[in-house]
Amino acid sequence: MLETIAKRERDFGTPAVVNTQTVRLTIDGHDCEVPAGTSVMRAAAELGINIPKLCATDSLDAFGSCRLCLVQIEGRRGYPASCTTPVEAGMVIHTENPKLHDLRRNVMELYISDHPLDCLTCPANGDCELQDMAGVVGLRNVRYGYDGANHLSDTTDHSNPYFDYDPSKCIVCSRCVRACDDIQGTFALTVDGKGFESRIVAGQNDGFLESDCVSCGACVQACPTSSLTEKTVIMMGQAEHSVITTCAYCGVGCAFKAEMKGQEVVRMVPWKDGQANRGHSCVKGRFAWGYATHQDRMLKPMIRGSITEPWREVSWDEAINYAASELKRIQAKYGRDSIGGITSSRCTNEETYLVQKLVRAGFGTNNVDTCARVCHSPTGYGLKTTIGESAGTQTFDSVMFTDVIILMGANPSAAHPVFASRMKQRLRAGAKLIVIDPRSIELVDAPHVKADYHLPVRPGTNTALLTSMAHVIATEGLIDEKFVTERCETQAFEQWRTFVSQPENSPEAMEEVTGVKASELRAAARLFATHGNGSIYYGLGVTEHSQGSTTVMAIANLAMATGNIGREGVGVNPLRGQNNVQGSCDMGSFPHELPGYRHVSDDAVRQQFEQDWGVTIQPEPGLRIPNMFDAALSGSFKGMYCQGEDIVQSDPNTQHVTAALSSMECIIVQDIFLNETAKYAHVFLPGSSFLEKDGTFTNAERRISRVRKVMEPMGGMADWEATCALSNAMGYPMNYNHPSEIMDEIARLTPTFQGVSFKKIDELGGSVQWPCNEEAPDGTPTMHVDEFVRGKGKFMITKYVPSDERSTRKYPLLLTTGRILSQYNVGAQTRRTPNVLWHAEDLLEIHPHDAEDRGIQTGDYVAVQSRVGETVLRADVTDRVQPGVVYTTFHFPESGANVVTTDNSDWATDCPEYKVTAVQARRVTQESDWQAKWSRFSDLQHDLLQQGLTTDAKQEPETA
Ligand code: SF4
Ligand code: SF4
Ligand code: SF4
Ligand code: FES
Repeated sequence: MLETIAKRERDFGTPAVVNTQTVRLTIDGHDCEVPAGTSVMRAAAELGINIPKLCATDSLDAFGSCRLCLVQIEGRRGYPASCTTPVEAGMVIHTENPKLHDLRRNVMELYISDHPLDCLTCPANGDCELQDMAGVVGLRNVRYGYDGANHLSDTTDHSNPYFDYDPSKCIVCSRCVRACDDIQGTFALTVDGKGFESRIVAGQNDGFLESDCVSCGACVQACPTSSLTEKTVIMMGQAEHSVITTCAYCGVGCAFKAEMKGQEVVRMVPWKDGQANRGHSCVKGRFAWGYATHQDRMLKPMIRGSITEPWREVSWDEAINYAASELKRIQAKYGRDSIGGITSSRCTNEETYLVQKLVRAGFGTNNVDTCARVCHSPTGYGLKTTIGESAGTQTFDSVMFTDVIILMGANPSAAHPVFASRMKQRLRAGAKLIVIDPRSIELVDAPHVKADYHLPVRPGTNTALLTSMAHVIATEGLIDEKFVTERCETQAFEQWRTFVSQPENSPEAMEEVTGVKASELRAAARLFATHGNGSIYYGLGVTEHSQGSTTVMAIANLAMATGNIGREGVGVNPLRGQNNVQGSCDMGSFPHELPGYRHVSDDAVRQQFEQDWGVTIQPEPGLRIPNMFDAALSGSFKGMYCQGEDIVQSDPNTQHVTAALSSMECIIVQDIFLNETAKYAHVFLPGSSFLEKDGTFTNAERRISRVRKVMEPMGGMADWEATCALSNAMGYPMNYNHPSEIMDEIARLTPTFQGVSFKKIDELGGSVQWPCNEEAPDGTPTMHVDEFVRGKGKFMITKYVPSDERSTRKYPLLLTTGRILSQYNVGAQTRRTPNVLWHAEDLLEIHPHDAEDRGIQTGDYVAVQSRVGETVLRADVTDRVQPGVVYTTFHFPESGANVVTTDNSDWATDCPEYKVTAVQARRVTQESDWQAKWSRFSDLQHDLLQQGLTTDAKQEPETA
């Protein structure tokens, strides 16, 4: 049962061993058989015999330092440590006898003699392995007294905002050091000194905050005492119950145990059995959840006639009825297609499904779109065209079986940190790495991980680079002919082979275009094609280009040509950004597709939905987000329901977006905060955080995981309930008692979800990867195993077409954008947490040469000007970027990164070309005109909010 589980999960002491060879042995008179290589400790634990331990834990390889786990093995001298002793055939082992008892008690006595005796007031009381083990070995008193040399007055390091390090409680078991090295891969901790003097230090003994620590929490999780403890536990005490749920940040989809006291979260602990994260986490999911109860939460529905009027708090009924009457009024005046909706990639599958259903069935249009329009829509188009399904092909675990990785246009250390840690584990074990990125991302040169090749591609030339890689593979006889013959369309392949083999596609010919040395590119291509299992992981640095869809097809071509698809360790893996962006696409959020990626023009598909929903569905695709803005400006699009999406901050060319929104008559925003888009809204509906509702998220591996309610919706309604209320008020009945009923409907209407239900997900241990249906009742970890979803794989011609956006004399630099570990997307959540300690503003990274040319130094204010706008950021002079390229993040609204980005977009999907903007940079001393205007407008909106709020709800303005 997953709803409530034991406080501390079972710990087998050492990791499970996968080995088909087994060994039989006897432990305490019980026969057992375990895989060869298993430790004696684990073999015993699997029999239910818990050998005392302190330095061992089953998430880490054994280290053998504490000597508490001693056992007796018949025929052997001495008392070996069971955690470091592998089983052998015929071993006869005793885990308990008077001698072992004495030895263990002596060990424990030494530990306790240098440990504060404050168990009753210790935050770990009841959750401390040292305390438990003292009880297990029967220690009642300490013969040495407590007066000798000790560490009891060592001072606590409070520097990290989320956890304390109290060295007086440390038993130097080094679990924290090993967790940081082996699980997280940051190598921030060391054991300093020897013997009695040895202590754990972060960095150069400069405290956790100043060190390289990325606050993932793995060390805190591993610590058997209260030496490393969450501040919330210190403050609130131990939790009373726990619920398993899924992180609401990135597309890794980590499973967490929300440990609760009543309705309050005490801490979020990465769930050991989580199939996406395997017990690991990053700073966002582990610690940055305080936004959920932040004072800025908007908890009352509000309405107003225009965006220059004060907000007025109203009841849910009044807000919903007002919204529905406005939408109906607009449709009566401007026509059926004058309204639409935007679904959220942060909301659950069930909520997203309902919003698109409301638009298609309740509004009677297909004017629905989602933020995937601005991130991974080219993945949908490119993968569907080539291999037949719009999703990644693998599990995250698959990376452990890969031999060579291409990592392109993605920075997992920042955006998918838990997966980055897995990738680093595999790289440290010997896999090769090819990074294709204009920036020197962390994985190019991380502790104990070095990329074999870093190809610093010029922004906008990805297609040229991949085509020239394909040229090497095709012309040097490196194609997997057997795979291609058996699995792919012959004619398309031959056309492709001829195309890529043309001399103009050679690395030498393309060097001038891509900026990548031909020799490096040739070597990287050979490595990928010949080094065993090759996998490709990519991100928005691939898709957010005018040729995003073409580059995705080039990736699929490369995987097919080298036979790297359809088994573990290979595949094409888009690293989806937001927690449920895969799900929002699956659920029919695009204007041309019903749930399950089926085109609205398909009569049979439409009829199925029409019969179930009892309405007529339009056979023509509706408006995409950019089309909605254009239509708003031309006067034909007047009303919008926007759930959990901040289009003003996240979409390109901000001035265009705000002009479009300002011209509309009814914008309904449903969100947990009054975000940038809400400043242009007429109806505000309080959103609910992931802690306040039931449902599912689908991560980047197609894994559908349960989201479980741990507290009641603070605004009174979960998002799905508000959508139902709006639909009912619009005259289209929607009545569900629980999100599980919505999933049942999704399963009824979507072939790839046919076997999915909340019950099924629980039965399968908390998640299932789609397709899950009659052919794959337990889901599909690896796709395209025997044949592609479309039958034969289809090679596509990927001719390089330069972006219109090129550097010129006026705009000589190319701006590219990305994310940083501590912040998430538009920052609405993470900016309201102590994560701002690591990243309090968006900076402009600029190469020392470009900075010197312009007299710019780190910390200077720099105006970044493109042909559409200008904003001012502070400079970070660094060689992480190459000359001619500048880089920034977009987490703070006042930075206005998207004031500069243009409305150039992918030819197939309209995905904006965020990654290439020609700009000029110059040193300045004041904010840009846009920023001054933004400040004035934000102040006005704050005043309009205050005028409408009840006295006790008045808020301080958000600090910039
Ligand atoms: S929080 Fe993570 S990165 Fe920081 S020291 Fe601990 S394990 Fe290492
Ligand atoms: S801080 Fe905790 S995990 Fe690290 S050595 Fe000390 S007791 Fe062990
Ligand atoms: S943000 Fe991503 S990697 Fe971090 S805990 Fe959440 S799902 Fe996991
Ligand atoms: S648990 Fe085996 S030596 Fe510490």
